[in-house]
Amino acid sequence: MDWKELEQACAECKKCELCKTRINCVFGVGNRNANLMFVGEAPGEQEDLSGIPFVGRAGQLLDKFLFAVDIDREDVYIANILKCRPPKNRDPLPEEEDQCIDYLRHQVALIEPKVIVCLGRIAAMRLIKPDFKITKEHGTWFKKGNYLMTAVYHPAALLRDPRKKEDMLEDMRKIKQKLLET
Ligand code: URA
Repeated sequence: MDWKELEQACAECKKCELCKTRINCVFGVGNRNANLMFVGEAPGEQEDLSGIPFVGRAGQLLDKFLFAVDIDREDVYIANILKCRPPKNRDPLPEEEDQCIDYLRHQVALIEPKVIVCLGRIAAMRLIKPDFKITKEHGTWFKKGNYLMTAVYHPAALLRDPRKKEDMLEDMRKIKQKLLET
């Protein structure tokens, strides 16, 4: 599948119940030749309304961290495990992830980023390992196939607990450094 076919398939997707409540399918945004890809959990309200990932409060905080380590949002690709918003922002159900994950796999295969950063526990458990512990393992590097992977706190978690911001900044600096090395 090329980008056009993939985006079309996603927009028309009815594989799970979330299609009934979505306003927009939130496919992904950014540089399709990016070396760095971020993967979040699922769209929230603002994302569902706009069709663009990470544009709400959490997204604006992510932008600040990107700015802090001199990474341009235009240079990266940002997507989510789920393309449709779960009602009231509940956690994705395993079966919803199972139905949706192939869209993300296709995106990764088309982009071939060097580094994939999971935003939060849900993405890390799905993409790095099922028993991923975000408090203990954020900022740790994992090699999976051709990809270097790590996870950082979800920006929404930083909004709830600003003490985590220091760790986030350190992890983002490590990511920037890794990009420079690779
Ligand atoms: N949280 C996510 O995980 N993804 C978004 O796109 C927005 C908020």
